[in-house]
Amino acid sequence: MAEKVTISVIKADVGSVCGHTRPHPSMIEKCKETLADAAKQGIIEDFYVTRVGDDINLFMSHYKGENNAEVHKLGWDAFTEATKLAKQMKLYGAGQDILTDAFSGNIKGAGPGSAEMSFEERPAEPVIFFMADKTEPSAYSLPLSRIYLDPFTTTGLVIDAKAKKGFDVEIHDVLDHKKVVMSSPEETLSILSLLGDTSRYAIKRITSRAGIGPACVVSTDKLNLTAGKYVGKDDPVCVCRAQSGLPSVGEYLQVFMNTMLVAGWMRGSHYGAWYPCSPDNSDPTYFDGPPRICALGFQMCNGRFQGLEKYGTVGDHVPMDFFKGAEWDYVRQRAVKASKFMRSMGPFMPAILGPEEMEYTSRPAVLNELKQRLEDLD
Ligand code: F6R
Ligand code: MG
Ligand code: MG
Repeated sequence: MAEKVTISVIKADVGSVCGHTRPHPSMIEKCKETLADAAKQGIIEDFYVTRVGDDINLFMSHYKGENNAEVHKLGWDAFTEATKLAKQMKLYGAGQDILTDAFSGNIKGAGPGSAEMSFEERPAEPVIFFMADKTEPSAYSLPLSRIYLDPFTTTGLVIDAKAKKGFDVEIHDVLDHKKVVMSSPEETLSILSLLGDTSRYAIKRITSRAGIGPACVVSTDKLNLTAGKYVGKDDPVCVCRAQSGLPSVGEYLQVFMNTMLVAGWMRGSHYGAWYPCSPDNSDPTYFDGPPRICALGFQMCNGRFQGLEKYGTVGDHVPMDFFKGAEWDYVRQRAVKASKFMRSMGPFMPAILGPEEMEYTSRPAVLNELKQRLEDLD
């Protein structure tokens, strides 16, 4: 059996320029330098550093498996170095997602988000990295449900013999820290019964039932709970393998032509419409948003990321940038229109999230002030 390659994405918001906008270019450069050194030392095979809004995303490939201490420490080191620069420049939210003083072997619970998958590289292995800003992991539940569970969305579920065997969906209850694996198509309606509650359930992982292995993995670290208080929506990543028995690249992208409301946006406390774009266009410019979604594509090649550059280049890649093009203007305009409509409701639900999901609230203080004045109803 061939050795399994592992893709690890570790991401964090460690500071940005003029509010929660974008990291300083020197922070991205510092992360690249740190990862380039690690590639020279043989800790990782390859890497790509990018960002969505104020979040720096490290894509790494290696043969060390998931939850590897050396690889996780690398992510930690890159972000603590970038934090030093952010602090020197007094950037906004400098070191925001660094929640512990020292690295203790695994990035989980330390602040940064992570998503990892290991698989035998197929003869041709297309991988898409979705990256979101100003929203939470369960934002992926609707598009992934359509992609993997809905034959009226993904024709491949009907006409590709391997995809027709269905998928196993690992669902996490992010509040009670429980998980369950359910199978589509048999349990599709029960799966949707859980996933519809985006405040509690999120897809962690989807696996092929035709023996192809992992199909997608989402970072579900739920930062606000990790920190024991609300410190930010996760701004999650989702890594997807595509084609030949898995959803095709086009089947993955198609659903983002729909306008979808997601939780997050301003102060992590509003519903706004997901705005597909290039990382270059991911600065949150309207009411700290609207929430962004980017999609970058590579071919895996002997453990490395093959983009639109010379074979074998390490680190310095040119990925497919799927949401960059003018065809996505259609949905971008609709996303702004839908977001503006939500804003017309100001601080009223459903423009703002339910009380248990609000990242900011003044309610306990208000109720406290009113203690003496609150009376029983007749
Ligand atoms: C949302 C986000 C921003 C901030 C907002 C207030 O995820 O990052 O919308 O919540 O700009 O930020 P503070 O409380 O830092 O003034
Ligand atoms: Mg932020
Ligand atoms: Mg962010």
